[in-house]
Amino acid sequence: MVAVDNDVYDRVGDTWWDDDNPLVVLHGSMTAGRMDYFRGVLARLGRLPTGQTTPAALDVGSGGGFLAEEFCRLGFAVTGVDPSAVSIRTARAHAAAGGLDIEYRVGAGERLPVDDAAFDVAYCSDVLEHVDDVDRVLAETARALKPGGIYLFDTLNRTLASSLATKATQQWRLTRVIDFAAHDWAMFLPPDELAARLGRHGLTVQESVGLGPRAKPWTAVAALVRLRRGHLTYRQVSERLDMGRTRYKGLFYMGHALY
Ligand SMILES: C[S@@+](CC[C@H](N)C(=O)[O-])C[C@H]1O[C@@H](n2cnc3c(N)ncnc32)[C@H](O)[C@@H]1O
Repeated sequence: MVAVDNDVYDRVGDTWWDDDNPLVVLHGSMTAGRMDYFRGVLARLGRLPTGQTTPAALDVGSGGGFLAEEFCRLGFAVTGVDPSAVSIRTARAHAAAGGLDIEYRVGAGERLPVDDAAFDVAYCSDVLEHVDDVDRVLAETARALKPGGIYLFDTLNRTLASSLATKATQQWRLTRVIDFAAHDWAMFLPPDELAARLGRHGLTVQESVGLGPRAKPWTAVAALVRLRRGHLTYRQVSERLDMGRTRYKGLFYMGHALY
């Protein structure tokens, strides 16, 4: 077991948007991949902003604001919450520089600094595998949602494949591409376990689908090798991996639930 290093978001959180920051792996292709799915769900449910109304969206664990900015551009009034003050400062500055009006607050998912029943949509992307108390975060998110609200998520599955991928990218000397413990495999959540936990808080999962690299395996390996040699940035690696919706749910998966 490896203790997950959440302090990294304070150590390097002022460079979230830089091409050579490991955190930008979440953005290079993954933001587009996650947003394709989330936008599709909201469109299917008829819950995309229409221009007449500005529904409220809550980003739990907003980090540098990759997804908050996307939801803001879709027309949502976005509130981003994250315990890392450095990340919140960075997200705030990036949004302001881009002329985006996003409300950012420092706070943990276990104690969200938001009102009850205030949000039409809440989402939690690559966060549930980082939190101390998943049930508390889900209970708090449910509290923040309006009845009929939508919960969007993506996280890591607890499988042999994700165990090997975690060890290869962050532990094994010959293959690792990050020098901090981004993840602890024991904290990953299989889809059934997450669905059961969500259910306990009134959130009924409607669907879960795979999220992962769509690049050919040799393209992915070549990109990681070139990253180690310093020939590619983390953003370029993310682009080459082409993270998005997949059939395979053994690494990452994403989905949605109704409250
Ligand atoms: C991998 S990043 C994901 C950031 C963002 N959601 C994204 O996908 O671009 C994980 C984020 O979770 C935040 N985090 C860690 N513990 C948390 C908690 N208890 N509640 C809410 N967020 C937390 C970290 O500060 C970090 O910004």
